[in-house]
Parts: sequence; C-alpha cells; structure tokens
Amino acid sequence: MQASHVARNRTETAYEITAIESDEHLLRIDWDDGHRSEFHMVWLRDNCSCEECGDHSGGHRFFELGMLPDSYSNEANLVDGMVQIKWLEGHHVTKFDPAWLRAHCYADNERRKRRHHPITWDASITGNVPEVDYPKAREDDAELLKLYDSVRTHGICLLRNVPAEVSATEELASLLSYVRETHYGRVFEIISTPNPVVIANAPVPLRPHTDENFREPPPGIMIFHSIRASEDGGGASVMTDGFKLAEDFKKMYPKQYELLTRAPIPHRRFTDGVGLRAEAPVISLDYFGNISEFRLNDRTMGPIDLPGDMVEPVYDALAKLFELSYDSKYHMEHLLMDGEALVFDNARVLHARNGFNGNRHVRLTHVGSDEFYSRWRLLRSSLQGDINLI
Ligand SMILES: [Fe+2]
Repeated sequence: MQASHVARNRTETAYEITAIESDEHLLRIDWDDGHRSEFHMVWLRDNCSCEECGDHSGGHRFFELGMLPDSYSNEANLVDGMVQIKWLEGHHVTKFDPAWLRAHCYADNERRKRRHHPITWDASITGNVPEVDYPKAREDDAELLKLYDSVRTHGICLLRNVPAEVSATEELASLLSYVRETHYGRVFEIISTPNPVVIANAPVPLRPHTDENFREPPPGIMIFHSIRASEDGGGASVMTDGFKLAEDFKKMYPKQYELLTRAPIPHRRFTDGVGLRAEAPVISLDYFGNISEFRLNDRTMGPIDLPGDMVEPVYDALAKLFELSYDSKYHMEHLLMDGEALVFDNARVLHARNGFNGNRHVRLTHVGSDEFYSRWRLLRSSLQGDINLI
C-alpha cells in the first residue's frame, strides 16, 4: 500500500518555492526571498509524518531510526504545491508542506532567527516594566499571552488588580501553570517577624539573588503577590536582569566571564528534614553562545569544589560579578502595592528588597518553567498559528 500523507500542522508562509533540485544526499530549495535551504535526505526520510511513520511534530512517532535505509531516492518534485519525495523502499511517498519545510530549515541564519531573543534591560526600565491587568488576563487570551510573552522576552511582568487576598495567590499561579510544591509547601509567606528563622522574613534589605539554586531545577517562574505593602513606604522589590548583567560582565571581564560559564558552583540547603544540593555554572550558554540561564546567590553557596588552580580565579570572578550586581544602574525598583504581583523568570531575573519597618505581607509561589512555556506555546499556537516555537 502506498503510504503518502501531507505533513501535519500546515502553516501559512510568506515564502514561495522558486526552484527545487535533489540528489541522493540533498534536497535544495530556492525561495522567492533569495534564501536557499538544504535538507539532507536522511533528515527528510526521518521526518516523514505519514500515518505509517507517525507524527514527529506531536512527538508520537512510529518510525525507528534503525529503519533508515542505506541509500536514498533523488526523486523530489513539486506536486500540487507540495514537495513530494518518492523513496526507494516500497512505494513510500512523503509530501512536505513548503511552509513546514521553511519553518524547519536548519541553515545557520534560519536557526539563529528562530532562537529566543531576549530584550535585556537595566534601571532605565523603571516605570516601564511590561504590565498586564489581571482580571483582563483571566478573560482574554490575548492579554494572557501578553503576560507570557513579557516573561519570555523581558523575564518579568507586573500584574495589577490582583485581589489582595490570600486565596488569589494560587488562583493566579494556576492561571499560568501548576504550582510547584516544595518543603515550604505551595506558598511561602513573607511576613515581617521579630525573630525570623528565614532571612526573607526579616525587615532587612536583601542583596540581588536568584532563588534556591540548591534545587535542580531551581524554581522556574516566580510570583510575588502583595497582600499588604509596608505602611512606611519601604520594602520595595529591586529587580535586576541577570542577562544584562552577564552581557556587561562579558565586555568588562571576558576571562572571568568565560570562567563563570564553565565552573560549577555548588549550592546547599541542609536544615531540618531537607538535604538539598545542586551545582551549575553562574552563566549557562546555549549552542550559539547566548546566555540561557543565570544563577547567583552567595547566601546558599556551598564549599567550592574545583581544581586548585581554579579556586582563586573563580573567587576573583565571583567577587567582580557580585560587585557589578550591587550597582544601582541595573536595579529596577518597584514597591508592590496591595493587589499587585510580579511574575518573573528566576533563571534570569535577580530579586532583592529594600529595608522596611512596618507590617508587610507578600506571598511567594512558583510554577515550573516547562509547564509555563508549554502554556505559552499553546497560546501562541492557537492565537497566532505559530507551531515552531523553541
Ligand atoms: Fe529570594
């Protein structure tokens, strides 16, 4: 039986195919914008999404890599607007939607275009942090998408008009994703107390840090929900873009930057009933060398465990980076008023707090990044037809 099927998830494209040629190794496609794609036959055969081979876009495949043939067809043609390849095995035929092919072209420039391009910021963003009206986001998917896109692009979003009620914290979190429960429970209360066990509960200033690097993964998307702001006007949240910090650090101290992209830094929390430990470099990079994750917190650092010749250079690099993180030119200050919430990516944005001297109640919870970005992809896909989001 001939197995031919249109590649699933058709997408609209602005690009038209102007020419097509193939041999037993490569399929070359010229597009009307001047771009040329080259697809390897092995890749095309693997990505057949006919009913026999299964759905690679959905992650439900039947085709096994052991079934790849030793040699490939060179029979590729444009048939009724689809790229059709007849394979040598039996009568197997694959039809590719040109839009799907363009969306998955793996030429270097196309791959770079598809990657996430964060917009970095410093103190000058104060007063212009992306913000969303919470009741509207609950009603309107476009507003909700704005929230996700802001966290994705800027690492942060301010929510207004959240009820200043305890019950609203988890309601807000579940709008975004699933609450990640930890030994603190589902929500951590930050209320000033006279004899705090945890420093977050003391009305003292806190330095910029990312939270709980002793977990793997650390908390993903954090939510600070303000129930009651301190009556003395203190206790402002101080937010820092770790990606901006790392970008500048790279320019100022390239050697130290390089060191902090590869030296694993351990973090620990050993208290009653908890024995958490994880390690990762301060700065993680993706394949292209772009900053993909930032973890910094000297309060939870464990003993550094590195070859002797790295110890002093690593302390030197960390000291320089911490010094930079204290510079107010990176600090966006926002005093969370009753019924406001900050949603931010803990793998990027550092938080700190000014001192205060009053009654203050902020509730902290977090949701997993994987589920958060899963919802983001679904929203983008349903509202904007975007299927190839990384
Ligand atoms: Fe914290």
